[in-house]
Amino acid sequence: MSMHDDIKNVLVTEEELKAKVADLGAQISRDYAGKNLLLVSILKGAVVFMADLMRAVTIPCSIDFMVVSSYGGTNTQTTGLVKIVKDLDADLTGKDVLIVEDILDTGVTLSNLVPMLKMRNPSSVKICAILDKPTRRKADIQPDYEGFQVPDEFVVGYGLDYNEKYRNLPYVGVLKPHVYERA
Ligand code: XMP
Ligand code: MG
Repeated sequence: MSMHDDIKNVLVTEEELKAKVADLGAQISRDYAGKNLLLVSILKGAVVFMADLMRAVTIPCSIDFMVVSSYGGTNTQTTGLVKIVKDLDADLTGKDVLIVEDILDTGVTLSNLVPMLKMRNPSSVKICAILDKPTRRKADIQPDYEGFQVPDEFVVGYGLDYNEKYRNLPYVGVLKPHVYERA
């Protein structure tokens, strides 16, 4: 039984992802030339994008990881506060931080996280998201670098999960309804 059988339709193909990541890497390499670039990935969803993007960046850079979760609330209702579960190792003083995210959805997570990072004296903080669901936005925040806009559907693959599965799909897709029903 293959995980591909659970996919109703593909929204972004492996080839499209590859081409877009190459573009983003080239653009970031130009924009951050001579700067102190630190790529910050939010685990776990952004790990696949991070691994691809960092190899498409051709200037010297560092990487770091963090784990965040929303305070209280349920999965569908967020309280608007973000808890740092695993903090960065890096000192952000003088760094040009680029947050590498899987998807910008309501924007609540990053609209809380960006000000927290800005308090640590970085030179700049920007956002690079491979996916964007603009119709779901609640916070006033946009990605500085963006891959693909997706409709208001729950998507999996390229790092994104459903119940911790499907992160290893090489494309972005939508699950068949029976997958949710069986859970
Ligand atoms: P915000 O705060 O922007 O949250 O609402 C973004 C985070 O929510 C997760 N997310 C998804 N995960 N499929 C997923 O697997 C989706 O369609 C989806 N939409 C949002 C994701 O972890 C992201 O970082
Ligand atoms: Mg995430």
